[in-house]
Amino acid sequence: MADWRPDSWRGRPAAQRVAYDSVVELVQALAELSSLPPLVTSWEVEALKRQLAEAAMGRRFLLQGGDCAERFDECTPRIITNRLKILLQMSLVLVHGSNKPVIRVGRFAGQYAKPRSEDFETRDGVTLPSWRGDLVNRPGFTADERRADPRLLLRAYERSALTLNYVRALVRGGFANLHNPENWDLDFAQHSPAAAEYHDIARHVTEALAFTENVLGVHAGEMEWVDFFTSHEGLHLDYEGAQTHRAPPSERWYNLASHFPWIGMRTADPDGAHVEYFRGIANPIAVKVGAGMSPATVVKLVEILDPDDEAGRLTLIHRLGRTRIGECLPPLIDAVRSTGRRVLWCCDPMHGNTFTTAAGTKTRHFDDILGELEQAFAIHRSHGGYLGGVHFELTGEDVTECLGGARNLRDVDLARAYRSEVDPRLNYEQALELAMRITRFM
Ligand code: PEP
Ligand code: CO
Repeated sequence: MADWRPDSWRGRPAAQRVAYDSVVELVQALAELSSLPPLVTSWEVEALKRQLAEAAMGRRFLLQGGDCAERFDECTPRIITNRLKILLQMSLVLVHGSNKPVIRVGRFAGQYAKPRSEDFETRDGVTLPSWRGDLVNRPGFTADERRADPRLLLRAYERSALTLNYVRALVRGGFANLHNPENWDLDFAQHSPAAAEYHDIARHVTEALAFTENVLGVHAGEMEWVDFFTSHEGLHLDYEGAQTHRAPPSERWYNLASHFPWIGMRTADPDGAHVEYFRGIANPIAVKVGAGMSPATVVKLVEILDPDDEAGRLTLIHRLGRTRIGECLPPLIDAVRSTGRRVLWCCDPMHGNTFTTAAGTKTRHFDDILGELEQAFAIHRSHGGYLGGVHFELTGEDVTECLGGARNLRDVDLARAYRSEVDPRLNYEQALELAMRITRFM
């Protein structure tokens, strides 16, 4: 790593680069950012890496989920609590169904930057820069809102800290305690078609826990249940680099803005800036793998990003789509096996299944999401491996952004509560139902 620095990526072509009009303001913001306390610690990061190493061996299961894009104005106690509740409920269902400990990783406390397919957007003859997430600019269609503002980097850091502070307080304060899963019920969920089955599972788990503790005299490890980790797409390399520090005990370089950053599909060029940056950090990292990525490219990425075959280091999140996974996944599995490295395979069944309705709304169908997952479990199994995790875009809110599910949301329902500025999320009921359905494939 002698040739690596937190800014050595500057020598490489960076996709999705943000154009700031004041370099002075940018440099000031980055200097301030790098002087502030880290959001996470290297000890937590290493603990997650050990857990991911176990997931890669089939002994744990990774649940990663949250919004496509977090919003500054959604940093509210209700939204944070509801998101935590749905992730806790899903993890309980997965623990029960798989008989494995579940690693809970939120797509939160830093998921503020979005890759865009177009740099500019034109409306009624007016062209402005695209919205790239609250980290960069604002979604309103005015020149002022769309200007890339370096001060937003600091606002994003602060919102991340506020979110993480509240999550840590809830989790440590007993909210996440497995003895009280009733804390995780959402008010509007009582009439959910999945509610009865969920409550059965919750009762089973609490009874099993009570049995173990009372009859066998074993106390469930509290820590085991309350771990929660953060992740986001490491897209904005100035932002990520400013929060990259040498940290004990190994004195390696860590990205301390998040436990588990990932490289998005649009920035996964092996010769590009993002791969160069990620190569040098000691965090566990993930890469999104789309249907357009060749097995040869995946091999290159594995060799660059995990040269020492470090346990827990690399997760590959495939997002191939229900119709493509059958043809694309087997060659990818074979290619990775040929490298001799052990990676953790995770399935994102969201991003390969997005389509636009006749009315122009971006959506996904529950059946496509479930269908891709079913195939993912089966293909890994038939190739002598395992799917070790799932990656979802979801919310604890009662939105109508994805179609289908037990309530069978249809095109006409989307208009009722569609709030995402970017990708459509599973709502609370759809997310819980999905967790129940996939335990049948595990
Ligand atoms: C995302 O996770 O929101 C995303 C943009 O995904 P991908 O990089 O897989 O397209
Ligand atoms: Co998305």
